[in-house]
Amino acid sequence: MGLPQPPMPIALYHGQALPPVLLLHGGAGSLPDPDTQKRRQEALAGIGAAVLAELAQGLSAVAAVALAVEKLEDCPLFNAGRGAALQSDGLARLSASLMDGARQKFSGVMLATHLIHPSRLAAYLQSREESVVGPLGAQLIARELGIPPQSPLTQAAIERWARALAEKDRSGTVGAVALDRNGRLAAATSTGGSGANFPERVSDSATVAGNYASSYAAISSTGIGEQIVDDGLAVRLETRVRDGQSLLAATQKTLEEAQSLRRRYGWIGVARTGDWVVACTAEAIAWWGSDRAL
Ligand code: GLY
Repeated sequence: MGLPQPPMPIALYHGQALPPVLLLHGGAGSLPDPDTQKRRQEALAGIGAAVLAELAQGLSAVAAVALAVEKLEDCPLFNAGRGAALQSDGLARLSASLMDGARQKFSGVMLATHLIHPSRLAAYLQSREESVVGPLGAQLIARELGIPPQSPLTQAAIERWARALAEKDRSGTVGAVALDRNGRLAAATSTGGSGANFPERVSDSATVAGNYASSYAAISSTGIGEQIVDDGLAVRLETRVRDGQSLLAATQKTLEEAQSLRRRYGWIGVARTGDWVVACTAEAIAWWGSDRAL
């Protein structure tokens, strides 16, 4: 007989609001120290308020999530863009994606190096036939857009990398979902992967398991990417909503499955009805929502 398993942590927040609705996350994983937690919460609230103001002025959902994730990539407190974790060989390889629910168009970049904003490339790919590109494609597109090479390396990232090599710290990722004034939905997600992971390990964030939006629901995931991919998390939640479940019912069912498999991940979501959720089976998820900010 095996040892009894410790209980799974579980968090579920939900509500319903009139559009525009915006939710952001700053990653799920271990509980950070109180100071980091507070600073992340303040950063999410500042970025959330700024983007919500634009959504209220008529910005589209897809432009709003792209803007929110770009701002989150600029903040070194999160594992994306400037704060990205380094892979075990010491290089930051960034992945990001964007999905416009109104067009049901996914775009993303995987393992982009020498830049801060992989989400900009994902946004540009919305206008191209190719949906997802790898590291070389990302470099070529950055060149096409006139984005100069830039290192996301910070002292803090190097110190975290050294610790993560020993501890296998696996938290991170940023994301946004939005429902705009015209009822359109969108989702965006960006990550440096998990701390010190295998070189060129690809995360879930630039796949439809990590990020998905349609005219029914928009979902951005965070947590252990391999588990998110194994469960097809974001697209599974969207399919449940498309097939008639409320976003809350879809979330409760998916949380049950995650608990039974002892998964360690979370997600934010919004449906066309204005229903929104934040769910997590890791110790903590950093999030902000427009409904709570009002
Ligand atoms: N969810 C981010 C990662 O595992 O890379």
